[in-house]
Amino acid sequence: MVKVVIKKRVNQFNEVINVDGDKSLSIRSLLIGSQSFGICKIKNLPKSEDILSTISGLKKLGIKIYFRNKICFIYGKGLNGFDYKKNIVINAGNSGTFARLLLGLLIKSPYELKIIGDKSLSRRDFKRIINPLEQFGAKFIANKKKTLPLKILGSEYLKPINFFEKKGSAQCKSSVILAALNTPGKTTIVAKKSRNHTELLLKHLKLPIKVLSNKKHDLIEITGQRQFKSFDYVIPGDMSSSAFFIVLTLLSRNSKLKIKNININPSRTGFIKIINKMGAKVKFANKRNNYGELIADVCVVSQRKFKAINCPIELNSNAIDEFLIIFLIASKASGISYFKKLGELNKKESPRLELASMILKKMGVKTETSKDSIKIFGNPNLKVNKKILINNFYKDHRIFMTSVIAALCFGGEWTIEDGESHMSSFPSFLRILRKMGYKF
Ligand code: S3P
Repeated sequence: MVKVVIKKRVNQFNEVINVDGDKSLSIRSLLIGSQSFGICKIKNLPKSEDILSTISGLKKLGIKIYFRNKICFIYGKGLNGFDYKKNIVINAGNSGTFARLLLGLLIKSPYELKIIGDKSLSRRDFKRIINPLEQFGAKFIANKKKTLPLKILGSEYLKPINFFEKKGSAQCKSSVILAALNTPGKTTIVAKKSRNHTELLLKHLKLPIKVLSNKKHDLIEITGQRQFKSFDYVIPGDMSSSAFFIVLTLLSRNSKLKIKNININPSRTGFIKIINKMGAKVKFANKRNNYGELIADVCVVSQRKFKAINCPIELNSNAIDEFLIIFLIASKASGISYFKKLGELNKKESPRLELASMILKKMGVKTETSKDSIKIFGNPNLKVNKKILINNFYKDHRIFMTSVIAALCFGGEWTIEDGESHMSSFPSFLRILRKMGYKF
C-alpha cells in the first residue's frame, strides 16, 4: 500500500497541462472496436488499470490487441466475433464500466462466462444490468444480491426489447445498446439523461441508431445485426480528471491553468455548470469537433469568493463523478450548499456520499447527510491546521485524488492511504502535480 504524505505546496502557478485520456471513451472505443471488421487505431489511450483490465478481458475473448505508447491497435472480428471457450473467467478489476458494458456484448455467448472484480467492484449492483439482458434472452447465475462474481450464458435466440432506464446510468443504457447491436430487429430505450458517448460513437460509425431528446429523457432506437468497419479514434482528455486540477486552481492563490483537448460533451459538463453557478468562471477555448464529440481547452483562474448552491437535481447525472471535488468548493463557499437525490453516489467505487461527509468533518466542515443528500456548511476562511489520516478502505481513486487536492488547498498534515488507487483512472495525477512543483 502506498501512503502519500504532502511535503510541499506551491504558492501560485501559471501552467498548461494535458490530463490522461477519457476513461468512458477509452473503454467504449475498445469494446466497440472489438466488434468492428478490421484494424482500429486508437490514439491517446491512457495506461490506466481500468483500460488494462478492458484490454486483457478482450484478449481472453480472442481479440488481438497491441498497446504501446498510448497507441492501441484492435483487430476486430465483426459482431460477436469473440472466440468463446469453456470456463473463461474475465477479471474486470475495479471497472464497473468495463464489466457492465462487456456483459451487453456477451449475450450470444454459447458457454457460461464468469465475470469477477476487485473488492470494490464486487460490492456493486449488477441487477440493473441483469434485468434488461435477461429480457433479451441471456441467462445469469448470480448470488442473491446480484453482485460479482457472476456467470452469463448467452442465447442464440435473442429478441429486441423496450427498456426504460430510470437511474440516469450511462452504464445501464450503454450495456443495453451494445446488446442491441447483436440482436435482430429494433431495440427501444427511454433513458433518463446520462453521458451519451456510446450513442455518439455509433452515430459517428454510421450505425442505425436514432436518438430523440427532450429535457429529461432520450428515446433511442437501434437496429441490430449490422456489421461495421474498423475505425481510427483519438481519445480526448477526461473532464472528470480535469476536475481535480480545475478545483486546485480555483482554490489556490493568483494561479492560472489551461487544460488542453478536453471532452466537453454537455453530458459531461454538469460539474462546470455547478461550479460556475457557485461563482467560478471556467471557460472553454478553441472548441472543435473530435470524431462526433465536442472538445476544447479548459481555462481557469483562481477565485476568492464562492456562493453556496442548492444544486438542481437535473445536473446530478452529468456531474456524477465530480461531486466529491465539488464538495470542496462548497466547503469554502459562503452559506449552506445542498445536494440532493444523490443515492447513486453511494453505489460507486465506494459509498462516496458517506465518505465525503467523513472527510469534510475531519477537515472541520459541518455537514448534515441523509441516505441521498448532503448539506455542507461552507466557511470562506476554511483552513486546516491538524493532522488528518484518510484510510481509503475501498481504494477509491476519486476519494484519494479529492483528499490530495483538499490537502493542497486547505493545509494541514495529511497522510492519505492507498495512493496507487489513482492508477485506475488517472495514472498521471501525481506526476502532473510534481511537475507543477508539489512534493509528496
Ligand atoms: C460511466 C458512467 C457513470 C460513471 C462512471 C463511468 C460510463 O456510471 O460514474 O465513472 O462510462 O458509462 P453510471 O452509469 O453507473 O452512473
